[in-house]
Formats: sequence, structure tokens, C-alpha cells
Amino acid sequence: MDQTFNKINSVTGELTLPGDKSISHRALLISSLADGKSQIRNLAAGEDVKSTIRCINSLGIKTEKVNDAFIVHGKGYKGYTTPSQPLNAGNSGTTARLLTGILSAHNFESVIEGDDSLSSRPMNRVIEPLLLMGGNFKSFNGKLPLRISPSNELKSIRYESPVASAQVKSAILLAGLYLEDESSVIESSLTRNHTEKLLSLKVRYEENKIISYSSIKSYPQPKEYFIPSDISTANYFIVLALLSKNSELLIKNVSLNYIRIEILSILKAMGGNIQIDVKGESNKEVYGDLLIKSSYLSNVKINSDLIPMIIDEIPILAVAGIFAEGEFEINGASELRVKESDRIKSLVTNLLSIGLEVDEYSDGFRLSGEIKKSAGYFNSFGDHRIAMAFSILSLLMDYGGKVEGFDSVAVSNPGFLDQLKAIVR
Ligand code: S3P
Repeated sequence: MDQTFNKINSVTGELTLPGDKSISHRALLISSLADGKSQIRNLAAGEDVKSTIRCINSLGIKTEKVNDAFIVHGKGYKGYTTPSQPLNAGNSGTTARLLTGILSAHNFESVIEGDDSLSSRPMNRVIEPLLLMGGNFKSFNGKLPLRISPSNELKSIRYESPVASAQVKSAILLAGLYLEDESSVIESSLTRNHTEKLLSLKVRYEENKIISYSSIKSYPQPKEYFIPSDISTANYFIVLALLSKNSELLIKNVSLNYIRIEILSILKAMGGNIQIDVKGESNKEVYGDLLIKSSYLSNVKINSDLIPMIIDEIPILAVAGIFAEGEFEINGASELRVKESDRIKSLVTNLLSIGLEVDEYSDGFRLSGEIKKSAGYFNSFGDHRIAMAFSILSLLMDYGGKVEGFDSVAVSNPGFLDQLKAIVR
């Protein structure tokens, strides 16, 4: 489906957005492991989180919506039942990889499959450490579909991950919940830490390394969760408000987890007027309100050490970079090649199509020059974050723009158009 956008004049008003996608996946999975009823408020609304719900339902876990809460009736330690068909993770890497960790500790055979995009993304990064733990897998060239068979004997591991990935870390920590001995994951970069927070896991910082631990002692109990709104969804509206004249936007109850708000620090360093007002905390996840005002932006050097903390924000950050003074450059982000699309290729193709000067690197790109077309025609490459980033760019172009394959926004934020309509003038 194509979606057309006209240039807007300004952004004003207030938004309350659905819950954070990463925290929602984890709240659902952890609740499904606990023995009894957990209650989740402000669950993420997108297709990815529906994939996690569908998978836990196929594993015998009942869920229901009661008023504004989502209820998960967890069945406790090894309470999952054998699924009668393959578990379909759809487009969701987090669903596939975290479930692989959990299922490697179960005593039945299961298969995880996904859509074409997910089936082309690497699963080896979770299979390798889980094999070291004694997991039993059969994959298609390290990709989905993945068959998980009962392990002869699962054992703990101390694993230094070669990729900066919260999904890999979480898969190991979740498998570790089934073992008396402590498992640990050692990282050299900060990656999102929601699994550790929701399970209250031990985390140590030693000589530039971050070490997270899990064992059966951290096996979850039923809980109540409030999921703060998704900062990775908020960022599209934040950049739109910053770049539009006479604009002021309030976004309420957004996740302010320090690993997720590096994007706000970068936008502020670029000159962005963003006020952060901390309001509260739920299950160790901090949240609060953001007030964003029109700003004049200049590009800054983005340190490659920060990439894992802004990995999902690079498409919309590049849009900010087009309108900011100076050149925009990203290095050390080869992970973008294995996201929902090859995001370096997707970005470069769309940016070149409007006459910008772009150099593509294996691990990033450099962007300079002026937009030379008055209207844009962009391809989403079936990737929700590319679709949303180029929708925002279209709203800022003299004669607007069109986004092909816009419907992929439903993966993380099906309400994107309605939210835009509520704030643009
Ligand atoms: C996620 C981790 C990140 C991120 C993805 C969600 C998570 O992926 O890009 O959208 O929920 O753990 P990696 O950990 O593979 O980098």
C-alpha cells in the first residue's frame, strides 16, 4: 500500500503512545513462565508483539484482555505444552531469538518460523551460545525455520558475545533461568537491559565490560507491569516537531531507560530543544514526559561506541541529519545490514533518490548536500522503521512525498497515521 503525505506547517499538541515493544515482548514471555496471573498495562500495539502473544498461546499459555489490562495466565516452571504446529514469529527477531533461549530448556520438540524478512536474518548468533549450553538445534543455514529438540543436559555458560545484541544476551539469560549454576553474559558495549531489569538480575561493571547473570534463583513470579511508551516510536514525532516551524509537542509517559535515550542526548547535542521530566518507575523501568520545541539543528560526530544504543533510531536520525547544518555520518553500524531490511541499503537508496550526496560504507554511510527534488517517492523495503522515517521526511518536503509499502508500520505502530493526524497542522 502507498501512502501520500503533504507538507505540514507545524506540530502542536500532546501524544500518549503505546508501550515499548522490547519491554512488552519481555513482560509477555516472563509472565508466561511465572506460575499464575500477571497483568500488563499499556502493552505495545504492533504486529511484532502479537507474534509473541501468538507463540505463547501456541505453547499452551492463555491470555485475555480485561478492560485496559492484558492478562497472562502463566503455567510456571516448564509449564509450556508441546505446540501442535510451528511457532510463527512473523517479522519479529526478538520473539524468535528470546523464545529460542527459553525453548532450549524445554523437554519437547518445537519449530520456530518467520516471514521472508525474518527468515533471512541470522539465528546463529543465538544458536552458537545455546549449543555451548547443550541446546539441540537444527536450522536452515543458521536461519529460520529452526527446530529445537530436547537437550541431553543443559549447563550454565560464561559467554562473551561477539555481537552487541540485547537479543543474544536475553536468549542466554532466559535459558539460564532453568539452571542451578549461574550463567553470565559479558558485553563490551551497552545494549538494552530490559530482561535484566524485569527479572531483577545481577549486573556487574568490570573494566569496560558489563556482566549480566542469571540462574534459577531469578525464576519469575507473577507480577503487574506498566509498560512505558516506546521511545523508538516517539522519536519520529520528536524529529518532526524539532524540524517544523512554530512547533511544540508534549509526549507523555515515555520510557526513559538510560540505554534507550541516547538518541535524545544526540538530538540535544545537535541543538534540539527537548525537555525531559521524569515522572515515575515501574519494574525498574523509568518513564516521564518529553516537551519538544522547534529547533535549528547542526550535525555532530556520532561516536561508534554509541551505535548499539541508537541502532533502531538511525533511519530517523538520518532524516534529522538531512536538515541539520554540516555532514551526517554513521560508522560502526554493520548490524543495520541484518535488521528488518538492509537498513544501510534502504536508507542510501531513498536518500539518493531525492538528489542528496550519499557515500555508502560496509558499516554506515555519509550524507551531505541539498534535497534536489520537490517531492519524494520512497520505498519502505517492507521495513517499519524505514516506512516511518520516510513518512516524516515526506511531511517536511516542499511538495510532500509518497511511501510505497507504508503498511509495514503496523509491525511496531499501527496507530502511526492517527497519531500524526492529531498533531500536525
Ligand atoms: C531488541 C534489540 C535490538 C533491536 C531490536 C529489539 C530487543 O536488536 O534492534 O529492534 O528487544 O532486544 P539486537 O539486540 O539484535 O541488536
